[in-house]
Amino acid sequence: MTILAIDTSCDETSAAVLDGDRVLSSVTWSQIKYHRRWGGVVPSLARRAHTERLPLVVTRALRLAKVNLPNSANSPNSPNLISAVAVTVGPGLAPALEAGIHYAKALALLHEIPLIPVNHLEGHIASVFLKRKSGKSFFNRLILQPFSRSNRSNHFLSLIVSGGHSELVLTNRDFLLPSSFFLSHRLLGQTMDDAAGECLDKVGRELGLGYPAGPVVEQFARFSSSRAYKFPIPLQRSPRTDLNFSFSGLKTAAIQMIHGTHNIEKSGQRQPKKFSKAELYDFCASFQETVISALLLKLKRAIQITGVKSVILTGGVAANNRLRRRAGALVRSLDGQFYPAPKQFTGDNAAMIGLAAHWAWSRGEVAQTPEKIIALDRQPNLNFESVIPSEAPPDGAKSRDPAK
Ligand code: KG4
Ligand code: ZN
Repeated sequence: MTILAIDTSCDETSAAVLDGDRVLSSVTWSQIKYHRRWGGVVPSLARRAHTERLPLVVTRALRLAKVNLPNSANSPNSPNLISAVAVTVGPGLAPALEAGIHYAKALALLHEIPLIPVNHLEGHIASVFLKRKSGKSFFNRLILQPFSRSNRSNHFLSLIVSGGHSELVLTNRDFLLPSSFFLSHRLLGQTMDDAAGECLDKVGRELGLGYPAGPVVEQFARFSSSRAYKFPIPLQRSPRTDLNFSFSGLKTAAIQMIHGTHNIEKSGQRQPKKFSKAELYDFCASFQETVISALLLKLKRAIQITGVKSVILTGGVAANNRLRRRAGALVRSLDGQFYPAPKQFTGDNAAMIGLAAHWAWSRGEVAQTPEKIIALDRQPNLNFESVIPSEAPPDGAKSRDPAK
């Protein structure tokens, strides 16, 4: 089945064509330059930019994949036709989501094909399973195919870390076809305030590192192995079954350190501390290390509580090499298998939405009739069903007593 997928959940306008799990084309246009001078994403600007760019991005994705939409000028001569359109319905910025949904609905109605609503977070999970056009994995080194038949676990954990989300998700799977799964997801933990990426971006902004600052923090951190700046690891002392995250306290502590609490209290104004280059590198290294430790603390707990040892790392922040290295080391130290998303699919992209659409289709989540297509709406706060971690162990997964 060939799917045209669209994602406009935040500030990337993206379209992709997938044949099963094979990416035939993937086109992403970033709006970052529009939002940069405001220091963050401006929803109304995002909607307008998505609306303007979508036709170009979609046309390019179709052309690169050498496929056509049915009932179009080229379709009579085309052996390869799109069978369904998929679109992210949430979570995300409401005006941005609206632009993509509006366009996808129009395509589905005009070309008389079904529309598949996709959960953006399931998309991030799906990014790990994407394959090249040739059917080969995106990983250069030879690793075990994630969740192949030889890997007998029927569950996996995902740590999703992006600008909008920090989540731990437990997934159950059932094989249908070799390249298609029947999956159900449960939310074990999420951030109670800021997401990890947001925390990196906001602290980086205060350091004058631009937007988004996460990748710059990583670059600067590479120049230092110092941990001279000390930050508390959030929720370190919370109960062992607590798998939620919190980054706003850490963000405030870091911003106060940057500006000097004293200065803010005295003058009511933020006077950035003058960092030398070396100090800036040390600060980034210390701060990044604390964000990673906060994430891995909960990942370790999740593995220990559920007994599930196949672990996915995904989302924009999963591009961070230090996080990938430390998460991989942690998972392997617990005898687990680690599957980070391929670097080119960590950030928002429609390819991951296309594969998640196949999974959604397997569950019957599809609008087939014009009435159902028209009725589809955005779900800005969409998430997986939540489960209390101590009750999380799924059938067959070994669980340890969380009290131990
Ligand atoms: O998944 P994504 O592209 O968009 C959302 O759904 O939010 O994630 C964007 C986030 C931003 O906060 C950005 O700073 C962060 O991912 N990010 C990084 C790196 N690359 C992107 N954070 C740390 N290190 C990186 N290399
Ligand atoms: Zn995302």
